[in-house]
Amino acid sequence: MTDPDILVIGAGVMGMGIAQVAAQSGHRVFLFDQREEAAAKAVTQIGDVLEKLVAKGKLTGQQARETLGRLLPIQRLADACSARVAIEAIVEKLEPKQALLRELGALLAPDAILATNTSSISVTALAAGLQRPQRVVGMHFFNPVPLMALVEVVSGLETAPEFATEIERLARAWGKVPVHARSTPGFIVNRIARPYYGETLMLCQEGAAPPEVLDAALRAAGFRMGPCELMDLIGHDTNFAVTQSVFEANFFDRRFAPSLVQRELVEGGLYGRKSGRGFYTYPEGPPALPLKSYPAPDPGAGLKIHGSGVVADRLAQAAAGMQSVPFTRVLESNWIGMEIGTRQLRLTDGRPAWRVARDVGTDDVAVFDELPTQARGTLAYAARGSDAWCAQVPAWLQALGWEPVEIADLPALVVARTLAMLVNEAADAVQHSVCTPEGADSAMKLGTNYPAGPFEWLARMGTARVVGLLEALDRHYRGERYRVSSWLRQRN
Ligand code: NAI
Repeated sequence: MTDPDILVIGAGVMGMGIAQVAAQSGHRVFLFDQREEAAAKAVTQIGDVLEKLVAKGKLTGQQARETLGRLLPIQRLADACSARVAIEAIVEKLEPKQALLRELGALLAPDAILATNTSSISVTALAAGLQRPQRVVGMHFFNPVPLMALVEVVSGLETAPEFATEIERLARAWGKVPVHARSTPGFIVNRIARPYYGETLMLCQEGAAPPEVLDAALRAAGFRMGPCELMDLIGHDTNFAVTQSVFEANFFDRRFAPSLVQRELVEGGLYGRKSGRGFYTYPEGPPALPLKSYPAPDPGAGLKIHGSGVVADRLAQAAAGMQSVPFTRVLESNWIGMEIGTRQLRLTDGRPAWRVARDVGTDDVAVFDELPTQARGTLAYAARGSDAWCAQVPAWLQALGWEPVEIADLPALVVARTLAMLVNEAADAVQHSVCTPEGADSAMKLGTNYPAGPFEWLARMGTARVVGLLEALDRHYRGERYRVSSWLRQRN
């Protein structure tokens, strides 16, 4: 197909974006909405957007005029008979979408593709009962459509591979990056992203730290926004609804269980930015974390750096920079961190500090979080640690170049827990043939702006470490939530 006519149904936020992108790529685009005048208004609005692009020098005036000329608002679907690809972006409800697809099926050519921009409804269910269900394909864009590169191309049980391939080709021609997914709850992005919110909500519920601390820890790990500020931006009502729908669609697998903390925010009308309050108050947003200064640590008892690998090397490098502190390395150690006399400061292996203290037989233990960059990192002390030790720990981390933030002693802290769970969810998605590892990486980087894909984190952290973190979480909490994906188990 060369530049086939496109029909976009639903002239809301998404339909408008899709119509603009298709028209800019050279297609004639019919735009239909059941609300009278909505399609015509949408075309006017797209015209305004195009004008701004011209002002910014991103389009020529002629390109904008030609694009606008290709956008045709229509009053009746029958006026779009020539369309070879229809993309529906109407209300997110099964029955109206099914009715529309039936109508389109009868109206358009037998080989026309019926694409749906649904974000949560099964493509298999949408196609059910159609005469030719094989031509229904998910084409899931992200908001704002003109700026977000990802398109999840979703196949239902009956979708013909050649139609999915055609939609992928079309997405690519529109400058997008298509990633193929099998139709399962949440597809790729909305599924794999659940733990990013879920783990922080769990930590909030357990009183680990205030939201601004959890946000700062994950920002320091390279995420553009912390989960709390991000949920405030998305809106807790929307985020809670997506979580609930993924939970229900998975037959109430506890792994996807929504959070009481978020439900209360929703019940109280604290939706986030749009209502002026969520985790934070707006327009102020998250309060800045005060920077604390600690006195230089006491190296009297001698410093040993345990373990090998990136984190141990970084500790050794930082210790080497503290010229007055002699240290030795214990490369063959089975843990990573520092030993000062008999006291231990360990990279979390998933066990809370109190559990490590019990296992190694000393009270003065602390654990620190996965520290992908030398920035703010969380730490926790074993409950029976001495005051002298608890005062030394942040001083050591600060002397070595980190901004330490103390949080409650919970397993796998913040970043390690979040990354391990994102990897676990992605591994399960691959195990269940939802997508490939490469697809999961692209989808998460492009659909959510994550600094790396889950399988890239896995490569950095190592399978044994990720599985160890998950097993420790599973032992601590017991239940379905932290069960290790069999995909990871097979590779450990
Ligand atoms: P919206 O509410 O902004 O627009 C929906 C439009 O569809 C409205 O203009 C409405 O009048 C029209 N409409 C409703 N029923 C219709 C029907 N039977 N026939 C013709 N027009 C009809 O909604 P939005 O946000 O654009 O979402 C549309 C679809 O895109 C939904 O399936 C949603 O789940 C999906 N989606 C939304 C994203 C978002 O961030 N808003 C992201 C990705 C997908």
